Amino acid sequence: MPNVRWGWLIGVCLLADIAQAGASASRGEYLVRGLGHCGTCHTPRGLWLQERGDAPLQGGWVQGWAAPAINAQALQGWTQQQLVQYLRSGDVPGQARAAGPMAEVIDHSVSRLSEQDLAAIASYLKQLPGAAPAPAAAPAPALTLAVPRGQARPADAEALDAAQLFDAYCASCHWQAGRGLPALDDTGALARRSGANVVMVILQGVQRADGTRMPSFSRDLTDRQVATLANALAGEGATALQPADVARRRRAQGPAGWQGATWAVVGASLLALCVVAWRFAAARARRRL
Ligand code: HEC
Ligand code: HEC
Repeated sequence: MPNVRWGWLIGVCLLADIAQAGASASRGEYLVRGLGHCGTCHTPRGLWLQERGDAPLQGGWVQGWAAPAINAQALQGWTQQQLVQYLRSGDVPGQARAAGPMAEVIDHSVSRLSEQDLAAIASYLKQLPGAAPAPAAAPAPALTLAVPRGQARPADAEALDAAQLFDAYCASCHWQAGRGLPALDDTGALARRSGANVVMVILQGVQRADGTRMPSFSRDLTDRQVATLANALAGEGATALQPADVARRRRAQGPAGWQGATWAVVGASLLALCVVAWRFAAARARRRL
């Protein structure tokens, strides 16, 4: 009865596969909750600033940055492979580029996990139910930032338009029409970033462990100038930011000491990682006995 035997074999393989996927997702849950404290930033806070148990990883705020929802629905547009690559490097061309607190978490903690663990985290997130709607696909940024030569600039620096500001402050790295390196016409990555986080990139710059650097423009640019630039970069369709929104983002960064909070999270994560690894190894050893 070869057919029955084949059927049985395929059935066993399928079951083993399902069990494997289950094990991987539950290990992912273990890592996300234990190691990562991913909820510290990605879970919205309640009245007493506690993480809301009814909305795990449904999107929160940290030091002025929006930490987006990371559940099955919000991550629909990501493949498993892209998620793993993001957690390993923070750089997925056309999809996302990590900055701010997430870049720190990746550089100092998550990137050190094994490929298997990253895959387990990705599987867990991809099957985590969530109420938060997937972010609407933003249209490609309208990078009309080339400055017509020979035009007089307004004397009032507040009246400079996006192209003139870009030319003065950003083009040296991002090139004339935003097509330099790093490419601001990587429309996927830029369009997915919320307006709030485009503002935060301009205010704080980017500092990655691999030496990738963008300076902070917090002192150089006024609230109106930052809003003008962010609106041009975020593209059509994004909610227009007002100078008051930028002022709010500046305040939300908190005093300089707040950066310490991020480091505390990173430190606690590393410690938790050691404990998790140790317990996992111990559990395995016990199973073998
Ligand atoms: C210290 C705060 C903080 C912690 C801890 C943190 N994140 Fe994030 N995360 C952020 C912020 C802020 C962003 C947005 C970054 C940006 O716009 O560049 C983000 C972005 C992301 C994204 C990209 C989402 C998108 O739609 O672009 C993923 C995926 C993600 N985080 C996963 C995780 C996982 C998994 C963990 C735990 C291992 C984690 N994060 C821990 C703050 C944090
Ligand atoms: C000294 C070089 C330099 C200057 C000047 C500079 N940037 Fe950047 N910018 C970078 C680097 C490096 C990155 C990070 C790229 C990465 O993470 O791979 C970056 C990233 C960004 C991003 C995030 C891109 C994304 O895909 O999400 C934005 C937005 C941005 N810059 C806007 C600006 C604006 C606006 C200005 C002018 C006010 C500016 N930059 C000036 C070097 C620079």
